Amino acid sequence: MGIQSVITGTGAYLPEKILTNADLEKMVDTSDEWIIQRSGIKERRIAAKDETTGDMALAAAKKALEAGGLTPQDIDGVVVATTTPDRTFPSVAAKVQGELGMAPGLALDVQAVCTGFIYALSVADNFIRLGQAKRLLVIGAEKMSSIVDWKDRGTCVLFADGAGAVILEGQENDKGLEGSGIHSTHLYANGTQRDLLKTSDGTSMSGDAGVIEMQGREVFKYAVSYMADVVEETLAHNNIGPDAIDWLVPHQANIRIIESTAKKLGMSMDKVVVTVDRHGNTSAASVPLALDEAICDGRIKRGDMLLLEAMGGGLTWGAALVRY
Ligand code: UT7
Repeated sequence: MGIQSVITGTGAYLPEKILTNADLEKMVDTSDEWIIQRSGIKERRIAAKDETTGDMALAAAKKALEAGGLTPQDIDGVVVATTTPDRTFPSVAAKVQGELGMAPGLALDVQAVCTGFIYALSVADNFIRLGQAKRLLVIGAEKMSSIVDWKDRGTCVLFADGAGAVILEGQENDKGLEGSGIHSTHLYANGTQRDLLKTSDGTSMSGDAGVIEMQGREVFKYAVSYMADVVEETLAHNNIGPDAIDWLVPHQANIRIIESTAKKLGMSMDKVVVTVDRHGNTSAASVPLALDEAICDGRIKRGDMLLLEAMGGGLTWGAALVRY
């Protein structure tokens, strides 16, 4: 089958500050009960004022290197998924590369909002399978708190901050689906739906990053159907059924969306990695944060088949089938 991209290390970083639903009750007209019932979120992490997306990405990257037993010199490049970069330019990836003291190599940011990590994983996987890189750091990092409208109860109770990282390494696989690596990725966007979830402003509109504006109910509806479609496509493409999946690692936007996808797959919730209750929606960071948590606590083991999926602004959505 040739070269495949194998996950050889993972890492995560969550800011210290915990913002609870009780804290939010003091800020907007909401309740712990409403937030839990509608989203499943109990608390979330918020970065310090002077803590940037790049700082969090760097911390997660260092953990991933440690877990993989590697040094920055072993890595050929960095792909970062983020919607909330430190600066308009240079990229967060360039900052991570520079701060780690890596040798010059490719470094780029990928912007697909909450689907960002799946897109970044796919981009990195393609570089590796083409032979243009041997080992890449792939990071999802966000400071969503910096673009939240803290007066909008429809969104401020949902979004949060954090970073997750994986190291992908090209390895020869002659075992087909039984071998470790990324077996397929499936990426989509429907730009006609871009107004459903967007920022109010942006660099070339006003020079201001803007704040999140979301038509929650509409996005929810599409999220449920796109997730079901892309998960089905991923299984069909690989000629497997849902019983071949050991762990579903979904984007953590809303427990009801996650439960709906699991139900469509006929998977029990104890095969699903859930962090939304403690992390909230960390956009591009949510999938690698969930992945790292389940690897570190021993739920996900070497050889397990993982189905990663996400959906977000654009609208964008995607999935990846990965044997760990
Ligand atoms: O990660 C990117 C993708 N994003 C998503 O997947 C998010 C998708 N959307 C959702 O997760 C859900 O739509 C929400 C959690 C955002 C909202 O849940 P919902 O069940 O769709 O509620 P809703 O928007 O239909 O609002 C129901 C009611 C409204 O009041 P009325 O019009 O029925 O009187 C809202 O004004 O709840 C009200 N409401 C709130 N009440 C208390 C909205 N936000 C809040 C709040 N606290 N924080």
